Amino acid sequence: MSTVTMTEQEPSTTGTPMVRADRVRKSFGRLEVLKSVDLSVEAGEVVCMIGRSGSGKSTFLRCINHLERIDGGRLWVDGEVVGYRQRGNRLHELRAKEIARRRTEIGMVFQHFNLFPHKTVLENLIEAPRLVLKEPRDVATDRAIDLLGKVGLASKAKAYPRQLSGGQQQRVAIARALCMRPKLMLFDEPTSALDPELIGEVLDVMRDLADTGMTMVVVTHEMGFARDVADRVVFFDEGRIIEDGPAAQVINDPVHERTRAFVKAVR
Ligand SMILES: Nc1ncnc2c1ncn2[C@@H]1O[C@H](COP(=O)(O)OP(=O)(O)OP(=O)(O)O)[C@@H](O)[C@H]1O
Ligand SMILES: [Mg+2]
Repeated sequence: MSTVTMTEQEPSTTGTPMVRADRVRKSFGRLEVLKSVDLSVEAGEVVCMIGRSGSGKSTFLRCINHLERIDGGRLWVDGEVVGYRQRGNRLHELRAKEIARRRTEIGMVFQHFNLFPHKTVLENLIEAPRLVLKEPRDVATDRAIDLLGKVGLASKAKAYPRQLSGGQQQRVAIARALCMRPKLMLFDEPTSALDPELIGEVLDVMRDLADTGMTMVVVTHEMGFARDVADRVVFFDEGRIIEDGPAAQVINDPVHERTRAFVKAVR
């Protein structure tokens, strides 16, 4: 696939982490899924999250855009407390409309693409910008076509999702998220439902996106991608991040015995 260049990101306010978690806790009933998660992601950083099934990676991603509500600790995105507005020393819980608005600033890409099957690729891309951002059709369309070009799918604007391969659908899903001009992108195992030969094209698009300076938090088992693209890799274990360091170090020479065992197993 040809390399694509994406629009450079606006530099964020310096000094404020894009994501900061301080002893975040989350339980489902009696199951304590996040026991105490600490993490800081600077603007422009790419952080990959790895860890065993059930260790809490997806739950933590969902907390970042408030699809789950945390039970303890504190979580900030771009300096704002997730789910709350701060006035002086007081925290006021946000209304649903404001939660939804903030969520539009965060792009999320899942394992399954969730494209609207009865809409064309272009219609999938312009839906949210038109309905949520109230962009005029021509503005949303121009941007969508530009982004489709950047994920290598300029010729597929009029296709329906079922006419595309899984890799192409996932690239559409990434372009669709980018149409909302997010300041942060969350990826939850974006390639794990793909046939092996389609994984590379999706990772290439993510790599290009990282090169634009987009802040990205990526749950993945793709160790090659993590090593090449991530600034940091963090290892989740039983609801905690027990290792957090430069990508090459965590993958090649982990400090913690459990990270060591995990990395060895997925290689
Ligand atoms: N909505 C929910 N209700 C009850 N339990 C849940 C819910 N969501 C997740 N869990 C449980 O929380 C634990 C952590 O799940 P989570 O999906 O965050 O793990 P994960 O690290 O993403 O795993 P995987 O690698 O398999 O995707 C699991 O035991 C899961 O069954
Ligand atoms: Mg998961």
